[in-house]
Amino acid sequence: MIRSLAPSVSRRGFVGASAGTLVAALGGCSRQAPPPSSPPPLTRPEGDTDADWAHVRAQFLLDEGVAYMNNASLGMPPRQVFEAVADGYRALSREPLHGKHDLQDAVADAVLPALAGLLGVRPGELALTRNATEALHLQAIGLVLERGDEVLITTQEHPAGRRPWQFRAAREGIGLREVFVPSPLPPAKEVVDRIESQVGPRTRALAFCHVTRGGHLYPVRELCAMAKRHGLVTLVDGAQAVGQLPVGIEALGCDAYSASLHKWLLGPVSTGFLWVREEARDRIHTAFAHDATPRAPAFEPPGTVDFPVRAALAAALDFATVLGLDRIESRCRFLSEHLKARLIELPGVTLLSGPTERSCPGSTIFQMEGLDAMAAVPRMEAIAAIHLDEHQRDGHDAIRVSTHVYNRIDEIDRLIEALPRARDSA
Ligand SMILES: Cc1ncc(COP(=O)(O)O)c(C=O)c1O
Repeated sequence: MIRSLAPSVSRRGFVGASAGTLVAALGGCSRQAPPPSSPPPLTRPEGDTDADWAHVRAQFLLDEGVAYMNNASLGMPPRQVFEAVADGYRALSREPLHGKHDLQDAVADAVLPALAGLLGVRPGELALTRNATEALHLQAIGLVLERGDEVLITTQEHPAGRRPWQFRAAREGIGLREVFVPSPLPPAKEVVDRIESQVGPRTRALAFCHVTRGGHLYPVRELCAMAKRHGLVTLVDGAQAVGQLPVGIEALGCDAYSASLHKWLLGPVSTGFLWVREEARDRIHTAFAHDATPRAPAFEPPGTVDFPVRAALAAALDFATVLGLDRIESRCRFLSEHLKARLIELPGVTLLSGPTERSCPGSTIFQMEGLDAMAAVPRMEAIAAIHLDEHQRDGHDAIRVSTHVYNRIDEIDRLIEALPRARDSA
C-alpha cells in the first residue's frame, strides 16, 4: 500500500516555496522534537568578531577540540544542511514515488531560483552537477573547436581545469598553451598582459580560475574584457569562489562558469553547477543530446540523480542568504587578516598570499623554513588537532589554511603556537 507523505513534505507544499520555507518543510520532522542541543536561531551577524559569530558557530556539529581549517578542500555543512539531506532520504524511504517528485519539485521551485538569485543569473541557464570537476569537464568538451585551434590556460589551474583540455589535445589535436602566472599573484594588469601576449591567430578560448587552489583572486572582469576584444570564449573555474564572496556571474562577462557548492557554500557533498551564457550556446554544446538547441541546451548529465542531496542545497542557500555573502566575506577576511598578522611574526615564514585585492577572503598560503608541508599536515593534526592542507604547487612548499566563518581567533592562535613545534618535531 502506498502511504501518503507527511504534509511537511507533500508535493503541493513545495510548489512556489522559497528556500527558507523549503528548509522548514524538509526539516519538519526534526523541528517537531528539537534535540536538547538545538542551536540558537540563525541571524545575520552585526560585526566580524567571534562574539558576533558565536551563534553561527553553534550551527555546526564539529567534534569538540578539532579546529577545521581545510574548507577549501571540503566545506563543513551546518546542521540544517545535514538535517535536510537526512529528511530528503527519509521522504524517499517512506514513499519513493512521491518522495522523488517532491524532491525534484524542490530543486526546480526552490533550489534553482535561489541559486540563480545568489549568482545573478537566470535559473534556466544553470545545470546542476556532482562537483566542479564534472562541470569543468562538460564546459571544456562542449566547446566547439577544430583541429589546430588553440586554448589558453594558466599554470595555476587545478587538475580539474587542466585535464579536460589535455584530453582534447591528445584526442583531437587541439593546441593547449599554458601561460605562466607567478605566485604570489602580480597586479591585475600584469596578469592580463601576460595572458594577452600569448593570444595567437588560432587561439579560440581562455580558461582560468576565479580563485585558484592557493587562494589567488584573479581579475576576472579584466581578463574577460581582454578575451572579448580578441573574440575568445571565456571559461571560468569558480570552485574556490562561490560561497566565500559575492559573485555576480553574468556581470563578470565570461561565457561559462563552473563551481562546487560543497566547498565555501557549505552545501552537501557532491554538489556543483555549470552555467553557460545563453548567447554562448552556439559555441559551447552539450555532451549529451543530439537534439539540443540553444533554448534547450541539455547541459545537465541525464539520468537518476542524488535528489535528497540536491534538494538539501536549499538549506545551504538559505544559510548563506540569511548570513549574507557580504558578511561572510567580511568575517572570512577578519579571520585571515589575523592569521596573516600572526604568521609574519614567526621567524622563517614567507606569506605567499597577496594583498586584499589579489587574495580571496578565506584561504592563506605560506612557507616556513625547515617545515616540509606534506609532513606538516598530519603532524599539525597530531600535535594540535588542526586540519590543514599542503600547497606544493606553483613552485612552493607551502601550507594552505582555509578558514571559514565558523573558525575562531583562539583556533588561529593555536595554529601559530603549534607551527614551530611541528617544524621542530621533524
Ligand atoms: C580551483 C579548483 N577547481 C576545481 C576543483 C575541483 O572541485 P571539486 O572537487 O568540487 O570537483 C578544486 C578543488 O579543490 C579547486 O580548488
